[in-house]
Amino acid sequence: MITIGMAYYPEHWPRELWDEDADRMRALGVRTVRLAEFAWSRLEPREGQFDFAWLDDAIDVFTRRGMHVILSTPTNNGPMWLYHDHPETLQWGRDGRPTDTGIRGHRCIVSPVFRKYAGRIVEEMARHYAGRPEIVAWQIDNELENSHCTCPACRSAFRGWLREKYGTLEALNRAWGNAVWSGEYSDWDQIQPLLAPDCMPDWHNPSFMLDFERFGASRTTDYVTFQRDILRRYFPDAVITTNACFPVHMPDFHQEFAGLDVAAYDNYPPVELPEDPDKFYSNGFALDFVRGFQRKNFWILEQLGGPGGCWNPFSSTTPPGMLTGYALQAVAHGADLLCFFRWRSCCSGAESMGHGILDHDNRDNRRLRELADLFQRLEKLPELDQTTLTSQVAILYGADQEFALKNQRQSKKYDYWTQLQLFQEACTGLSVNVDVIQETEDLEGYRVVLVSSHIVIEPTLAGRLEAFAAKGGTVVLTSRSGVKDKTGCCVFGEPLPTVFRRLAGCIVPEYDPIGKGIQHIRAVRGESYQVSGWCDLLEPETADVWARYTDRFYAGTAAVTRNAFGDGAAYYVGAVGERAMYRTLLTEIFREQGIPYLTTLPRGVEVTTREGPGGWYRFYFNNTASGVHFPAEGELLSLRPFEVAIRTTQEVWV
Ligand code: GAL
Ligand code: ZN
Repeated sequence: MITIGMAYYPEHWPRELWDEDADRMRALGVRTVRLAEFAWSRLEPREGQFDFAWLDDAIDVFTRRGMHVILSTPTNNGPMWLYHDHPETLQWGRDGRPTDTGIRGHRCIVSPVFRKYAGRIVEEMARHYAGRPEIVAWQIDNELENSHCTCPACRSAFRGWLREKYGTLEALNRAWGNAVWSGEYSDWDQIQPLLAPDCMPDWHNPSFMLDFERFGASRTTDYVTFQRDILRRYFPDAVITTNACFPVHMPDFHQEFAGLDVAAYDNYPPVELPEDPDKFYSNGFALDFVRGFQRKNFWILEQLGGPGGCWNPFSSTTPPGMLTGYALQAVAHGADLLCFFRWRSCCSGAESMGHGILDHDNRDNRRLRELADLFQRLEKLPELDQTTLTSQVAILYGADQEFALKNQRQSKKYDYWTQLQLFQEACTGLSVNVDVIQETEDLEGYRVVLVSSHIVIEPTLAGRLEAFAAKGGTVVLTSRSGVKDKTGCCVFGEPLPTVFRRLAGCIVPEYDPIGKGIQHIRAVRGESYQVSGWCDLLEPETADVWARYTDRFYAGTAAVTRNAFGDGAAYYVGAVGERAMYRTLLTEIFREQGIPYLTTLPRGVEVTTREGPGGWYRFYFNNTASGVHFPAEGELLSLRPFEVAIRTTQEVWV
């Protein structure tokens, strides 16, 4: 059974409300509550004085009703006394100064002083609640980011990390190419974390940035491991995880989740869909990405429960069907637990206009009724959590690519995530499951591997892809592949795509980063597509031309190629195309590979399939604000805006 959970903050409400809230949640179908996130000041009101009585009481309110509890460690924000009495616990910003307190997340997760206090509250909680089987899981902290703190502890940790990695300053200067702009260090203390607040990351040495991000990501992972180890001592069997979001400064999620029990994500798809068809978005990508953290089903620890209003002007309200649609979309991509955010909108604080399920008036409302229907519907599919997604297609993701492409933008319209999303959307728009996996993973079991924008060469990848293609697999490579080595410096003396040249069967003698400019390409078979962002002007060596440019001085030059390689093939996509181009390309590849697909799905409809011993469940999700009609599986399907139809082996439409 898919587990239904709810984020609840008892400390925000009078005690008299708790029982009524628990009864209403129970009646709605909620079986698990998430508690204690951000509650440090109530759990340790003064240094070393702990108060668990209120949380004991809250836990009892729910467990008496047969409900389970997910506890969060409250360490996302220290209490005010901590920052005041121990300012070394504060995070420092890019201006090289401690951040002001009063919001949240100001703590430095690297600071040994913060670790001491965070470790203590986590341990006190874990010891206090050890042995209670109703506490089924722990969430570590909240929405951890790549640590970009510049406090003295972080500076010295960064220098120590570099020393460990490079041994000598000579080696570091060489690796980063510091002769440029007189950037050579003669003392480790000269190395500063990012300290120019107004400076764009593009101004920094990209090799420095790459290591700075890798270091920050390693600190995030280290912090997760630190808390996990404490929790595990007291909770040998509970699920231990943390709730990922996709912040500006991304950690290395695969590393972060490697030592946790399940991947978990806070799922807030946009309430307002982009009107501009060019403003591409696909929430399905995020979900496939999270499933790839551990290559298995995952949890949603915060699922959209109402329109936004935190920190931003209000979004418009969630139209009928949207909450259900997005929740089922998460299930369709592998979520086994959906914990909604939050039971009721807060009456105070910065989030008071961020909407939970109930509004401030506390009356039953449209959102509550919608979720009641959803939970009843899920109850009719009790064995869904026994099913998983199997994919024959993989998109490769690399934290290094993320870091490198974010910190040194390639053109005004070249974005790593958009590139990956375009492939992902084309797959689910053809009803083909797709995994998003780390670039170092084994490719066994896949028939098609999509490798977009692999700018920093993962040293084993070219060899692995060649072996994969030689055995009959299809590889797709794109522009900006093979540009840099692991140090973040450009490969010298070889034409692009360097290590992928043999596999791609073409070289890139010239490129045109056209940014927002528009170009056109025509496929050899006849169709034309708009492209933008980037144009590699390809020179085939062993490859055949799949499409050529039709404009500007390079009209007639190859834009997309296909190279037969062993029993398989490698495509090289030199330009960033409109969605239709990816659809055509993947249709061709799926046909070649014998992967079944549907071509009748209208734009915005995505299809994924979960399978298990009892059969399969196919989810048709209309991720648009308009009704759609299309033939599928021998019937004419009609879906209202955001509606999800679930088709099962038993031929039951739900
Ligand atoms: C999440 C966060 C929650 C809450 C929510 C508001 O990112 O984890 O604590 O702030 O956003 O939508
Ligand atoms: Zn710090």
